[in-house]
Amino acid sequence: MITYNDAERIFKLDTPHTSYIFGIDDDFGYLIHYYYGHKIRNDIDNARYVSRLYDGDILPGVNTKDKNSFLDFAPFEYSTGGIGDYRSHALEIELADGTTATELQYVNHKIYKGKNPLEGLPATFGDEKSVETLEVTLRDPIIKLTVILSYSVFADTDCITRSARIINDGASPVFITRVMSTTLNLENKDYNLLTLHGSWARERHKEFRKIAHGFQGVSSRRGESSHQEHPFMAITDKNLTETQGEVYGFNFIYSGNFVAQADLDQFNFIHAEMGINPYNFKWKLEAGDSFATPEAVMTYSAEGLGAMTRSFHNLYRNHLIRSKFLHKKRPILINNWEATYFNFDTEKLLSIARDAAALGIEMLVMDDGWFGNRYDDNRALGDWTVNEEKLPGGLKYLVDEVNKLGLKFGIWMEPEMVSPDSDLYRAHPDWAIQIPGRAPGLSRNQLVLDLTRPEVWEHTWHSIETVLKSANIEYLKWDMNRQLADLYSAGLPADRQGELYHRYVLAVYRLQEKLVTTFPDLLIENCSGGGARFDPGMLYYSPQIWTSDDTDAIERLSIQEGTALIYPLSTMGAHVSDCPNHAVGRVTPFKTRGHVALAGTFGYELDITKISVEDRAQIPIQVAQYHKYNDLVREGDYYRLASLADNGEYDAWMVKSQDEREILVTFVQVLNHPNFKSRTLCLQGLDPQKTYRDCESGRNYGADTLMYAGLPIPRSWGDFKSTLIHLEEV
Ligand code: GLA
Repeated sequence: MITYNDAERIFKLDTPHTSYIFGIDDDFGYLIHYYYGHKIRNDIDNARYVSRLYDGDILPGVNTKDKNSFLDFAPFEYSTGGIGDYRSHALEIELADGTTATELQYVNHKIYKGKNPLEGLPATFGDEKSVETLEVTLRDPIIKLTVILSYSVFADTDCITRSARIINDGASPVFITRVMSTTLNLENKDYNLLTLHGSWARERHKEFRKIAHGFQGVSSRRGESSHQEHPFMAITDKNLTETQGEVYGFNFIYSGNFVAQADLDQFNFIHAEMGINPYNFKWKLEAGDSFATPEAVMTYSAEGLGAMTRSFHNLYRNHLIRSKFLHKKRPILINNWEATYFNFDTEKLLSIARDAAALGIEMLVMDDGWFGNRYDDNRALGDWTVNEEKLPGGLKYLVDEVNKLGLKFGIWMEPEMVSPDSDLYRAHPDWAIQIPGRAPGLSRNQLVLDLTRPEVWEHTWHSIETVLKSANIEYLKWDMNRQLADLYSAGLPADRQGELYHRYVLAVYRLQEKLVTTFPDLLIENCSGGGARFDPGMLYYSPQIWTSDDTDAIERLSIQEGTALIYPLSTMGAHVSDCPNHAVGRVTPFKTRGHVALAGTFGYELDITKISVEDRAQIPIQVAQYHKYNDLVREGDYYRLASLADNGEYDAWMVKSQDEREILVTFVQVLNHPNFKSRTLCLQGLDPQKTYRDCESGRNYGADTLMYAGLPIPRSWGDFKSTLIHLEEV
């Protein structure tokens, strides 16, 4: 709910448990932030003091009404550069005359039910009952620049989203050199910063640091959201637990370069910002043109990290992911990548499909290596015609044969890329992003196509469409296996080269939009060298994303914990693979691999024709577990019960159905501990009056007992062991 107090000129945005308050400054017409946190009553005329902006002068010499002293502290809703605010700015502009001063004052606002789409960008949505939007217009009358700040508030989750539109109403072009999507000012209470760090095969591990004076944060300059840092940060209570302590979470609905930072100032106030990374960003705004930022999400929880997680999950499940598969059980797939790498042919794939069908698997996904002369990863990206040496009779024959076995068929493509050794590159070397006269750096022996050029974009779309129409293809794994470098577009003039990073992301979004509208029945799984583009931007187009190339069950505990910190379990691509695991060489029980993969979309990635009889025998059991528990896992509320990253020995999580009738607890004993008693796990989020039965032992437990005394975990001997415990309300 959004209210405006006309007398006090204060806005109040309420979600079920939070309030966000800001207002218009009387002296200068600036938009000033007052409060964000636990929900408070409607006495908003009183809220101004929280900002400390109107404190009296401490010493005669320190005049807070002096403009520069005011600017040096004012908690702006959207700060600007060049006028005496020395902190980091939400917006920086360069004018044709080289000056940068920008000063925004309130003009007007409107409040409406629902939410308008962000053209060309992924964004949250909702109907008139579930979301309300405030748009505040600010203007610099001297340089004739208008900024519209949009805030949307959701009735069913504690999230607020923000974005900004910059409009040049002057007569000459201006350049945007920095533009954030959201900023937040808050008093530091000895807070920590939580971010997600990673690398290839090691994505999204949580990392805490104490917020100190100056800048801290994370960013990507790689042209994608990246393995290394994630477009997320949370400002947290230093004694944070899953159920206690304050958390301010930020997430960016964008798949390119980002910055997420917290700047602690001399007055002990934090300025948090999230937006497009200003690195190599310079956007020319012609007279009359406008620029829309991507959307950022903010959430506040007074009740620990778990509540933050569930707010994000609810937002993304109800207001971001559009796919018709979101609420459906996805077909259990078997992917041939770790089974064969590039070494396969029709017969090999059919032998996998035959065994898979017999064991209850529902879809075969043919990964990299089926096109051009792609016998290894040094060539052929861009040549999207089937390799008839490997697949005689082409895709149609293979897919029909797979369908005859009762399996669906899925395919891998990497549409954004080109190999220098490809027919496409030989015909159009200038279609790749590279700088004329400078040999480009290769990564996995490939270059990125300049999708910002209309002819390249059209050709790429045509390639995708032709493949998908050539056979009964029901699933697409869309990969992206290198980052951008050697930035130059032959399609842009010199003064627009600073737009390439962002224009590239917009072009990818346009391709994906075309894909989902042209093939509405296609199940899409995005991917980027594992999980380098696992972000809310891509979730707008695909209901699931490949989480990591590391399929080891133990590595996956931390990767999936970090990913599920923000994203619903139903979005995490997770497969049972062979051992020794290809990424780390670890050997874990087949059963544990299954339990960990059940926390995601579930599937297999191994040569089913070669695994042991014992492992094979477990597949029908796992398939049955998937069918039994997937509705619960996909739609339920997720609670982290124990973190391997914190305790070094075990990991556990639970999912509770929305109607609270069912609970599934997964416990993984990573390292056994000598000479100790059995463990108990305290469950969370239950109604203490309810009673639950352990479906296996038949034993009844009060929900209060489960939460305060804990659920007993059967002891097991050995490492890497796991247990599923299914509880039903009595
Ligand atoms: C990436 C993906 C893998 C696989 C390979 C194929 O690394 O993450 O799953 O598809 O590409 O080259």
